[in-house]
Amino acid sequence: MRKLFLFMFILAFVFIAMAEDVVKIGVVLPMTGGISAFGKLVWEGVQLGYEFKPTVLGKKVELILLDNRSEKTEAANAVARAIDKEHVVAIVGEVASSHTLAGGEIAEKKGIPMVSPASTNPLVTQGKKFVSRVCFIDPFQGSAGAEFAYNYLKARSVVIFTDIEQDYSVGLSKFFMDTFKKLGGKVSQVFYKTGDQEFSAQLTVALSRNPDVIYITGYYPEIALICQQARALGYTGYFLTGDGSDAPELIEIGGDAVEGLYFTTHYHPKGAVTKIGKEFVEKFREKFGKDPAALNALGFDAYLVLIDAIERAESLDPVKIAEEVRKTKNFEGATGVITIDEHGNAVKSVVINTVKGGKFDYVTTVTPGT
Ligand code: PHE
Repeated sequence: MRKLFLFMFILAFVFIAMAEDVVKIGVVLPMTGGISAFGKLVWEGVQLGYEFKPTVLGKKVELILLDNRSEKTEAANAVARAIDKEHVVAIVGEVASSHTLAGGEIAEKKGIPMVSPASTNPLVTQGKKFVSRVCFIDPFQGSAGAEFAYNYLKARSVVIFTDIEQDYSVGLSKFFMDTFKKLGGKVSQVFYKTGDQEFSAQLTVALSRNPDVIYITGYYPEIALICQQARALGYTGYFLTGDGSDAPELIEIGGDAVEGLYFTTHYHPKGAVTKIGKEFVEKFREKFGKDPAALNALGFDAYLVLIDAIERAESLDPVKIAEEVRKTKNFEGATGVITIDEHGNAVKSVVINTVKGGKFDYVTTVTPGT
């Protein structure tokens, strides 16, 4: 009898020890608030990535989702909470560059690796060791947009709508301008803020300049409204935007006004090239009953790149993991083949999509150095 007790005691102990033997990964995203569509898309992608790889180093992965409420301060708080309270070994997140800048500072200070699926502002990784990303950066996105406007849309005059509250928008506007001016085009800016609903003042100024293209560098909630109000004022030219348009909500809110809009982004399922990219599209449709958007694919890739780095690190040492993330070479992901440089930035192609018949449609791919 005593032996049986002892045996059961040991069994229970082993069971508890095993149950605790999980690898916790924090996922910090805007699940509520202004840009919650972004958070939901990334979360779907991460969950599918988890189905592909639910274990690492022989241990079960536990995903801990934290909401930054689409706010900068909360973005930093959520990262701190993930590290101090949840004791995560690494973080996937965040989406908006200003959020990843705020959260990334905390991750850097506490020495916990963070992989952003989608933050494209150069400052996000600059001067940091622990923050990396699986996407291209905005100097490339901005110049690809400017070349598309000049060469494909034949635009010679552009007015940019810049959201002064978003580092992403301020940066992307500048990078676009640099290239568009070099090409010989005329370009000027008007400004708005996240959460604005009424753009008639900026539109009056913009339309008086008779632009061929209105380039909007913010996020979908404001982009959709700017397009609607511009059309209502009689604007008939092109709309061009960056990846901030890439959520189905752009079309839900914008309706007819965003039809024909072009945007630079990371992905379209039609452009899926890798074996895993094709498998991803299939599995995603099966699981969610819809086509994947860029942030779905990027969330999937961010998670899998992180897991791959942990495997190569052969340990949960955060310094080693962060180093391995930056040694990612030719990793086959849903968005293509991913190589991360020593500064933590991925070198990847820009995809150009348009809105056609109320859906995102693929236009072309721009490869770096071409
Ligand atoms: N690139 C944007 C940023 O840095 C985030 C984003 C990426 C949004 C992809 C939508 C799609 O803020």
